Amino acid sequence: KKTNNQMLIIFGASGDLTARKLIPALFNLYVAKQLPKNFVVLGASRSDLTDEEFRDKVVYKSPYLEAKLEDLKENYIKGFADSLFYEDLGSDYTAEYSGLANRIAGLNDKKGTGNNYMFYFSTPPSLYEPIAKNLADVGLNSQEEGWKRLIVEKPFGYSLKTAQNLNKGLQQYFNESQIYRIDHYLGKETVQNLLVTRFSNSIFEPLWNRNYIHHVEITNAESVGVEKRGGYYDKSGALRDMFQNHLMQIVSLVVMEPPIGDQPEEIRNEKVKALKSLRIMKDEKTLFDNTIRAQYVASEINGEKVKGYREENGVDPNSTTETYAAVKFFVDNWRWHGVPFYVRTAKRMPTKVTEVIIHFKTPHHQIFKDSGVSSKDNKLIIRIQPDEGVLIKFGVKVPGQGFKVERANLDFYYSSLAQTYVMEAYERLLLDAMQGDATLYARADEVEAAWEFVDPILDYWKNGKDVRMYGYAAGVWGPENSDELIDELGYWRNPGSN
Ligand code: BG6
Repeated sequence: KKTNNQMLIIFGASGDLTARKLIPALFNLYVAKQLPKNFVVLGASRSDLTDEEFRDKVVYKSPYLEAKLEDLKENYIKGFADSLFYEDLGSDYTAEYSGLANRIAGLNDKKGTGNNYMFYFSTPPSLYEPIAKNLADVGLNSQEEGWKRLIVEKPFGYSLKTAQNLNKGLQQYFNESQIYRIDHYLGKETVQNLLVTRFSNSIFEPLWNRNYIHHVEITNAESVGVEKRGGYYDKSGALRDMFQNHLMQIVSLVVMEPPIGDQPEEIRNEKVKALKSLRIMKDEKTLFDNTIRAQYVASEINGEKVKGYREENGVDPNSTTETYAAVKFFVDNWRWHGVPFYVRTAKRMPTKVTEVIIHFKTPHHQIFKDSGVSSKDNKLIIRIQPDEGVLIKFGVKVPGQGFKVERANLDFYYSSLAQTYVMEAYERLLLDAMQGDATLYARADEVEAAWEFVDPILDYWKNGKDVRMYGYAAGVWGPENSDELIDELGYWRNPGSN
């Protein structure tokens, strides 16, 4: 695909994301010769920095800049840094943008970026709409000459209502086709591989339905706590921070029907349809029975004392924000009728892992009475991270007399594709947007459909009667009561176990 000459204007350029993710991703693309010939990054934010100071901050003195090709780094770094510029927006992002517009026009003329501008919103979300308006006021939304696109960071909305308002707000100034809502999980190879596993093989899809699948389990665990983001996290919680976006994206890829082709709208239409088929939990009893929230409490991990959530910096000592969320739900469509989905996400688990487990049904008629394990143990495990790969668990005969059955593994590791260069999520997503490919970005209706499912849970957790908040010691697999939710097996499959 062609990447036009262009300028990337980053709002919030002095923030953490720019230094930690965006600039390293761009640098790797630069080293890999994926950036167009004429390419400029213009950082914009409230800090008072010169171009040189910005380059120092995000390139020369950045702890995050590691080229994949370490030995080439020295040769590339100056060329890359020279394409970076900075514009101080003053104390207020919402002040006059004529200065910014002039700067952009000047750089465009000088560097030949073809009037193609990508605006990256990496500011607090309350500024998204005002920035879009300001850009429109100075004509920077017009595609008469060159294209104009927005990449919008998470969180996209705080609730269904706020997400709808944000969509409406942005769409006043930019068309939906210009808006790219980023979800970095869609940039992960293994998440994209859900599509390939399902739709490029003939051995999985025929079984991918209620006739053969007993239940689906998705675990997203992190070993870290809230780190330095207590203030943000306390207003967010696991459901907003991970579930509404990243996990719902994974769910939609597991649930969706086969798209007719690989074009962005063909895939996104099916994802939206999938999200709309999730059964929304309406009454308190259903919400009580099918959701669990919890917070980590102080404990020791590997002999080291760790704080409880309520003791973390920036967190209200009486906080009722969840750091663990588990939800059981059903999908109301032909394919999935009656198949329960169990999805959980949490901080301060024993390890960092994300996986999707398809648990198959037991064969209707069991002939091997002497089996150590039942064929119910047929599982397809898609390891999103780490140890990226795919694992199939199936029964084999134990050598010897009789028919004793034991479980065996067919195990594929991405790392065995040794020579392949695997792009980081942000590299892949930035490059896609630069090329105008929105397949791996969330569409307005997709984000809203995910909120529609999550909103009643948030509302119940906030206002419901008899809502429980459990505790779990930092470093364990969540509260004991979480096993009550997964009544199919009686326990979650903790990664690494059989
Ligand atoms: C972010 C969340 O979106 O995803 C973080 O805000 C979380 O709280 C992170 O740690 C997890 O991403 P990954 O790629 O490390 O699984």
